[in-house]
Amino acid sequence: MIVVASTAEMQQRALEVRSAGRSIGLVPTMGALHEGHLSLVRAARRDNDFVVVSLFVNPTQFGPNEDLQQYPRDFETDRRKLEAERVDALYAPSTEEVYAAGFQTYICVEELGARLDGASRPMHFRGVATVVAKLFNVVQPHRAYFGQKDAAQVAVIRRLVRDLCFPVQLVVCPIIRESDGLAMSSRNGYLNPEERKAATVLYRSLREAEARYREGERSGEALTRVLLECLAAEPLARVDYAAVVDPDSLLPLERLEDPALVAVAGWFGTTRLIDNTLLGESRHDYP
Ligand code: PAF
Repeated sequence: MIVVASTAEMQQRALEVRSAGRSIGLVPTMGALHEGHLSLVRAARRDNDFVVVSLFVNPTQFGPNEDLQQYPRDFETDRRKLEAERVDALYAPSTEEVYAAGFQTYICVEELGARLDGASRPMHFRGVATVVAKLFNVVQPHRAYFGQKDAAQVAVIRRLVRDLCFPVQLVVCPIIRESDGLAMSSRNGYLNPEERKAATVLYRSLREAEARYREGERSGEALTRVLLECLAAEPLARVDYAAVVDPDSLLPLERLEDPALVAVAGWFGTTRLIDNTLLGESRHDYP
């Protein structure tokens, strides 16, 4: 595995791989790699000749009072994990390399970027869309891999790819969970033991909504109530949002369509976590 810090070098190598007729798969990450990330890497390895993982803690997607400084960083452990997965290139640029002096071009996915997580984290998706567009231009992937856990991010990036005609196929991989159902996240490490236990309420609320859906409930409002009631029963959880929305537009659904995205976000102490599930017959084929 080569480790590349320079954008010019990464772009040059990507051009060479493409000129040789080989396919490139990109897995964008911010490091602190867990099984969720590694499932994306394995999918990329399965589908492509050349796999690039980017590791960059992107400052523009963090708000002023968020966890940019605290975000876990362990380059050596991440490097070893990626080597074991037979990744071809680890692209790990510095902040100055990505946002050179004078940088002032941002991408804003306007309406989608202000829904769900975008409503609680106002500049978040501007930062995500900008860095992902840069990564696409540098790594020039045929396919890019994202986790379904970040469902709103998936919707924003899908829109970005369509709107700006990026010749990239998005591959969205299932949520990977701990044995008690908690969705894997680099931020789970912030939780103390009580918060860690309480955080499973996110998954329980989704299971509850799934059960009601299986019993025939199709009202978005009724299913949202199920989520909120379940979340309210956990005293350590502070709800950020609970929503039943269209997975493309992220707009609330009055009656459930196929597929529907059921999404929750909550605070456990100072840690904000998200989770979701897709409902409907076609959910396995989505997107
Ligand atoms: O999902 C993430 O880890 C980040 O939002 C991403 C896509 C790597 C962009 O910084």
